This record gives sequence, structure tokens and C-alpha cells, in this order.
Amino acid sequence: MWQYFMPTKVYFGEKCIERGIEALRSLGKRALILTGRRSSKENGSLDDLTRALSQIGIEWELFDDVEENPTFALVRNIVSEYRDGSFDFVIGLGGGSPMDTAKAIAVLLKNPTLNVEDLYDASRYNEALPICAIPTTAGTGSEVTQYSVLTDDAGFKKGFSHPALTFPKIAFLDARYTLNLSEALTRSTGLDALCHAVEGFLSRRATVLSDLYAKESIRLIAENLPRVLKDPTDLRARENMLLASCLAGMVISQTSTTIAHALGYPLTTFKGIRHGEATAAFLDVIVEQAMIEVPEKVDFVRSVLGDVAKFLEYVGLNVRVPINDEELMLWTSRAKNAPHVQWTRGNFTEELIRYLYERVKLH
Ligand SMILES: [Fe+2]
Repeated sequence: MWQYFMPTKVYFGEKCIERGIEALRSLGKRALILTGRRSSKENGSLDDLTRALSQIGIEWELFDDVEENPTFALVRNIVSEYRDGSFDFVIGLGGGSPMDTAKAIAVLLKNPTLNVEDLYDASRYNEALPICAIPTTAGTGSEVTQYSVLTDDAGFKKGFSHPALTFPKIAFLDARYTLNLSEALTRSTGLDALCHAVEGFLSRRATVLSDLYAKESIRLIAENLPRVLKDPTDLRARENMLLASCLAGMVISQTSTTIAHALGYPLTTFKGIRHGEATAAFLDVIVEQAMIEVPEKVDFVRSVLGDVAKFLEYVGLNVRVPINDEELMLWTSRAKNAPHVQWTRGNFTEELIRYLYERVKLH
């Protein structure tokens, strides 16, 4: 048996905010916009959004200080600042960070007695403000998933989700906003999308439908990630990457991510490696380990990407960080006990996990 549930209404294409803005009327009259400090102003998305909102008479307030890898502390600050704002809905505009923050804020503004830790127990809430998501990177797929990843007070990344409430109601995907992404961000977000597609494809929770999306996503990334890295202004290739990222998001909305994500988290929070690269550093082994259980799927991945490690190197992946013995021990045990392991094919023993961290260790 399999099921499929992905309740986000997606608008895709040039000027889709302007053309689809009427849809936001159904979410209410007053919006809180969450975005980062710079990018949404530089790529034109914030102007397009606020202009369109004003045209249809939706009031908005702006919080434009969402940092990369949002923390519990940030969420607490936003809640205390906007608690009395009587917002009808929340808009996350930017990369994964503003969108994931929007999911947390949507739940907490609707449930004033809860605190950020309570997000991790979905049985504690059955209402949330509706969410609109507007990605300006091509990678996280957060616009079509129920997941939000926050960094806890101890510095560890932890995902929460609600099976229905934390899916955005509406997503606008306009690739023009990704045209001025830096090479580094293009690479890391593109690699994140690739990880979602490949991890989801090889996950024990994959379904016939998620596989359709995953295969198309892997194909699109194999062709278009090298293209956008070579020519960042190639709008068609940027569109293909944004589509690939969205498809990969739809995949993990069904399958969740696997151990590559769990392995990568400490490299991001403690060593500053961008999420996509931190995750992709382990992707070749995810593929290798799946060989015994699903050889035909591994064959597909290799027929599209070629040798996975070589493809990653070709697009410029190179992760090396200093890791001390204490970190090695702690991270290994956290990854071994992460919920992701149960969906990951193969046998990720403690020895293998330790070896994988040794592999990215700067000697
Ligand atoms: Fe990811």
C-alpha cells in the first residue's frame, strides 16, 4: 500500500506572484513576512510581493532578519515581537531558513501557550496560521514539505513537522529570483536538492509516485547544475533547477530524508559548512550502501550521474574540516541514533559512520 499527500498549491513561472496573488485572499487580510537581511531585496522578490499584496489590499508587516540556520532563540524573538500582531497568515520568503522559520511561527502565533520545544510534539497542536512559501534558492524544497529544521539551544539541528499543518498552503516559484545567487549558494542549494532526490529515491519509504518525481529531479539536476554553475544567468537552466528542487521537496515530503542529512547537520552547525555540501559529502556512500537492497535503483542513479563521487567532485564539492576525537564520538553516536537511519538502506554501523566522518576530517 502507498499513499500520497502534498497539499500545497504551487504556482510556477515568470511573474507568478503577480499572476497568482489573488490566491492569497483566501488566507486572510493581514500577513507577517519573514525574510533574510539582503537577498530578497536584491533579487526583486520582496518588491514584487509587497506590491502585489498592496494591490489586493492585504496588509503586511516585515521581519527581515532571519539568519541562516535559524535557531530556537530567533523563533522566540520573533514570537515575542509579533505575538500581538493579529496576523492571519505567514509568508516565508527566501531560502530554506525563512520558510522553515515561517512554519515555526505559524504554529506558535496560533498557539500562544506553546513554546518552541513543543513544536517537536505535533500532538500538542491542531491549528496553525496558514503559510505561503516563496523560495529564492533552488534547493531546500521547503515550499512543498511539512518539515522545518531549527537549531536547538545546544547547537544541534533538529527537524519538526506536523502531518498537515506545516505544509505551506500556497507556494510561488519564480526562477528569476535565483538568477543572482552566488556560485557558492548555487552549488550548495543544488546539491541539497540532489540529496533530497537521491535519498528519497533510495529510502525505504519511497513510493511509485515519489520515484517518478525523484527520477525526473535527478535527471534535471545532472543536466542543469553544471549549466547554472557555468552560466549563472541561464534562466532556462535556473528554472529547471527550481523545478528539480520542488520535485525533490515533494519526494521527501513522502519519504523524509535519510542518514546523509543526519550526518551533515553537525558539519553545518559546528563547522560552518553549508547544508547542501555538508549533506552531499556522504551521498556517494548512500548510493553504494543501497546496492544490495535496490540494485536497479542504484543503476538508475549511476546511469544519470555517472560515478556519484566523480559527479560531486565535478560540480565542485570539497568538504574538509578539523574534527577532534570528542566531536567524532559525539557525532557518530548522534547519527547512529538518528531517526533517519530506519529509512536508510544498507547497514550504517558505528564503524562506517566513524569512517565517514574520518573521510571529511582535515588531517
Ligand atoms: Fe536538505
